[in-house]
Order: sequence, then C-alpha cells, then structure tokens
Amino acid sequence: MEINELKQAFRQAYAHEATDGFFSAGRINLIGEHVDYCGGYVFPCALSFGTYLLMAPNQDRLLRFKSLNMPEIIEVSIDKPFAPLPNRSWVNYPLGCIAQFTKRGITIPQGYDMLIWGNVPAGAGLSSSAALEVVTAYAFNELLNTGYDRTELAKIGQLSEHEYAGVNCGIMDQFASAQGKKDHAIYLNCDTLDFDLVPVKLNGIKVVISNTHSPHHLDSGAYNDRVAQCATALEQLRTVKPELKNLAELTEAEFEKIESAITDPIAHRRARHVVSEGQRTRDAVEALKKGDIAKFGQLMNASHVSLRDDYEVTGLNLDAMAEAAWKVDGVIGSRMSGGGFGGCTVSLVKDEAIEKFKELVGKEYEAKTGIKPDFYVAEISDGARRVF
Ligand code: GLA
Repeated sequence: MEINELKQAFRQAYAHEATDGFFSAGRINLIGEHVDYCGGYVFPCALSFGTYLLMAPNQDRLLRFKSLNMPEIIEVSIDKPFAPLPNRSWVNYPLGCIAQFTKRGITIPQGYDMLIWGNVPAGAGLSSSAALEVVTAYAFNELLNTGYDRTELAKIGQLSEHEYAGVNCGIMDQFASAQGKKDHAIYLNCDTLDFDLVPVKLNGIKVVISNTHSPHHLDSGAYNDRVAQCATALEQLRTVKPELKNLAELTEAEFEKIESAITDPIAHRRARHVVSEGQRTRDAVEALKKGDIAKFGQLMNASHVSLRDDYEVTGLNLDAMAEAAWKVDGVIGSRMSGGGFGGCTVSLVKDEAIEKFKELVGKEYEAKTGIKPDFYVAEISDGARRVF
C-alpha cells in the first residue's frame, strides 16, 4: 500500500486527516540464533517489509487503535492506568510500548487516533511484532519529545513484549527494527548493546528468505522454556565459575572444562548450543569481513544443525526447507532464522542460482510437507523512521 492509500484509509476510519506517519522494519537474522538472551552476538538486518503507523491527536482522551487487518477500532482511556487487554489482543504490542513511557513518568497529554498497516508476512517469524512495537515507541518518542535514542526505543519494545505479550524475548528483533541500516547487518553484542554495522552488499550473492508457511508459535511457551533452561544452566555453571556473567561468553574449550556442572541433560544441550552458536557467530562475522563467504555459509549450515539437535527449535518444516536448500548448487549456506518452530529460513544464494533454488527447493519442500512455500529476495533496508 502507498502512503496516500494509508492516509485515505485513516480518513475513512476517523473522518479527519492523519498528521504524522512512521514506519519500522521487520528483520531477518543471518546468524547468532537463540543467544541474544544469553548475552551473545547476533547478526540481523532490517527488511523493507515492516509496519506503518499513522496518527493524529484527538480531543477525547482516548487512544484509538485500528489495524487495516482487523474490523474494529479498539479504545483505551489515557485517564486510567494502562494494563494488558485480554485474549492476547494485538493492541497489547503498541499499548505495552506506550505504557513504558508512562512508567518512566511521562504523561500522555491527549488522546491519539492511530491506524496501523504492515506488510511483514504473517506468522513468518520476520518480527512483525517488533516492527509494531518499535514504530509505536518511535512515534511517541517524537510526538512527546522524550529524546530517547534508538537503543532505548528497542528496550521499550522488548519490555512491551515481556510485560504485555508474555514472551521473555531478547533484544535482537527490536534492536534490528530500530537501528537497521540499508545494505548492512548489525553485529550486536547483546550483553553491552555495542554494535557495528557490517556491509552485506555481497558480490553476486543474495539473501533469500524461504517462508515455510507453518506459523511459528513464539508465545507457545516453548520459547520461554528455552530462556529458563539457559538460566538454569548458567546458574549451575556459576557453582564452579562464579565470575561467569553470560553463557554466550564461554568459548567451546572453556565450556568443555565445566559443562559437567550442568546436571539436567536438556539444560546441558541448550547451553552447548548457546556456546557453539556464540563461537560460530564471532567466526562468521570475521570470515565475512575477510571476504570468506564460503566459511560464512558453512557456519550458517552448522548453526541450523545445532538449532535442530541441541536447541530443538526447528521441526519438520524448517528442516525440510534447509535440507532442500543444502542440495542446490550455488547455495552458500542456509539455516532457520528467528525463534523457530516454523517461520522462515535464510539462505545465501548466488544470483545465477536463484531461479533454480526457488524451483528445486519449492518442489522438494512441497513434496515433503504438502505446503507451497514462498520465496523473497531480501531487501536490506533502514529501520525506524518518519514517513511524513
Ligand atoms: C525471537 C526473539 C529474539 C531471539 C530469537 C532467536 O525472534 O524475539 O529475541 O531470541 O527469537 O534468536
């Protein structure tokens, strides 16, 4: 949808003009999966897919939320303390961000009419929720003149997810949405939140996203279970290494020396993934900086295997998609991306192999799962911004 069409939809919904428009991006993670909440490095990029938020003040002391994908307008008073809406309402994502401003002592001075539209494929694990959170945080930061930087806006989005959506996520998705830069991936240290922007305009190679069309269920508890298992592993490792701050800071050699302190076999496997993925991510970014794209690809494949065997977040569909990709000539590397349990894989594919990739992977995936996948060549784009 064009901005003008969105302005028209706003007029139709509210019978007046939108005064301000904002956008924030979905993301794809190249490597560094399920390590952000363990203080590890991640390597995501913002996508051209994302979420738009059009707004105008109203005189009714109400926050009005309208999504173009939903029939109703939902109203929340600014004169009562904010609280999550029941039945997992989608409004909890933006409302949870607005609540973070009031929690920091900032008054919402008036009501706002809001219209939301996103083009991140639903359930694809490309962070449509982070895009919605960050666009809301960005918009209120501008309109209320609060002067938070983009990292703070990412934290506001993450807290909304924790407190209003019940997912104890890391910071990666909101950070990528807020700080994304065209043709760059963000090499982010999730412990310190220091980051580097690394160019990913790869010569003759594209980032291809394959949508399994099996929705990921991030709120299904399996994600929070993983977060808790890693916390258990960290606690037990600290009995023998009290100075240990994060799981992901261990090298594989250091882990081997102390891993027997983890008594629960599941927590042990989860920790082994976090440690090996931490190492892979550091190695992969170093390889990319040196131009060793083949090594980067091998590390992507190894990441998928570890997420499958040690972290158990892939499942049949993501495995079928990655395995099909690994067989295609011209594929540098392929792995699941995001929370897992469905969603998308990310692959690096040589330009001349992209059509073959879509054909062969599409055929094999459909034969194995009965589902027709979708493929998108990623456009790596800027993150949160004002659009008018
Ligand atoms: C989801 C979470 C992120 C991160 C990924 C896995 O996308 O929101 O914080 O943990 O899963 O890497």
